Amino acid sequence: MSDANDDFVPVLNEKDLQEGSMKLVDAEGTPVLLVMVSGQIFAIDNRCPHMGCGFSGGSLEGQVIVCPCHAWRFDLLTGEYEVDKEIALVKYELKIRAGKIWVKLDT
Ligand code: FES
Repeated sequence: MSDANDDFVPVLNEKDLQEGSMKLVDAEGTPVLLVMVSGQIFAIDNRCPHMGCGFSGGSLEGQVIVCPCHAWRFDLLTGEYEVDKEIALVKYELKIRAGKIWVKLDT
């Protein structure tokens, strides 16, 4: 499969995401939140698995993202909700290519 045809979608220039910040992007209609923590980039579905609130209005505490609606806390590394690990946010695979962040949406 060629590089141009591998299901990854370019969503943001890498230089536009700063350490400790979040950026909401649209990936072919899917709201994806990009987060950089300790130099590591995460791409998650912006919709909280609880009731769908946007994580982009929430806050970061280290590698934990806190939903703005009911303060559920999710570990970005594992995706898990701190109180019930059966519940997890949706993470997307990503890569950096040609100075851009690319995400792979579920098919
Ligand atoms: S919608 Fe996120 S904690 Fe309730």
